[in-house]
Amino acid sequence: MALRSLVTPGTLTRGAKSVGLGLRGLHTFTLPDLPYDYGALEPAISGEIMQLHHQKHHQTYITNYNKALEQLDEAITEGDASTVVKLQSAIKFNGGGHVNHSIFWKNLAPANEGGGEPPKGSLGWAIDNHFGSLEALIQKMNAEGAALQGSGWVWLGLDKEFKKLVVKTTANQDPLVTKGPSLVPLLGIDVWEHAYYLQYKNVRPDYMKNIWKVMNWKYASEVYDKENP
Ligand SMILES: [Fe+2]
Repeated sequence: MALRSLVTPGTLTRGAKSVGLGLRGLHTFTLPDLPYDYGALEPAISGEIMQLHHQKHHQTYITNYNKALEQLDEAITEGDASTVVKLQSAIKFNGGGHVNHSIFWKNLAPANEGGGEPPKGSLGWAIDNHFGSLEALIQKMNAEGAALQGSGWVWLGLDKEFKKLVVKTTANQDPLVTKGPSLVPLLGIDVWEHAYYLQYKNVRPDYMKNIWKVMNWKYASEVYDKENP
């Protein structure tokens, strides 16, 4: 009886509060601005797609992520273990959506602001070393993106542990780190239909072919140099 009384919900709730297990000062998220105008990536990606993608899709991930975090905060404060576990998939999906899209916007740049210019310096050298050439890397990422079933992402990442470049795909909104804790995203291509359907209909390979014309290799190089000193 004594043991049973120790694990009543009331005791757990009081215990959680008394040791401060709630997420004090809960941090929620807001939609980051794009570093360019919605129409600035045309003709590779239409302004209509960019606006909807940013204002509707990314915003929805953020709204639902914040909602899940607030529910998590409450569940932890109340010692509600079942709800804490139940919220994990919503946190992974919507938090992943926020993380991935925040990278994606920075992965792109208007053609008149350096978009599409091949990587220089250490990243350019590493790509030649690992994949043979930039063209070979692009072909590999395009092929993996075209073959990815359903919705997801194609990534060029740095494996910090083995100090090598990798190409990976992730399903749904899984961030690259779900494929390995030492993986850092350099470039991510969103291959959800919402990223291209209004312009390219069902022809994902054409979208993937054209996105390289607005790829921000300068951003990828900066991340690479920072993470691989
Ligand atoms: Fe997206």
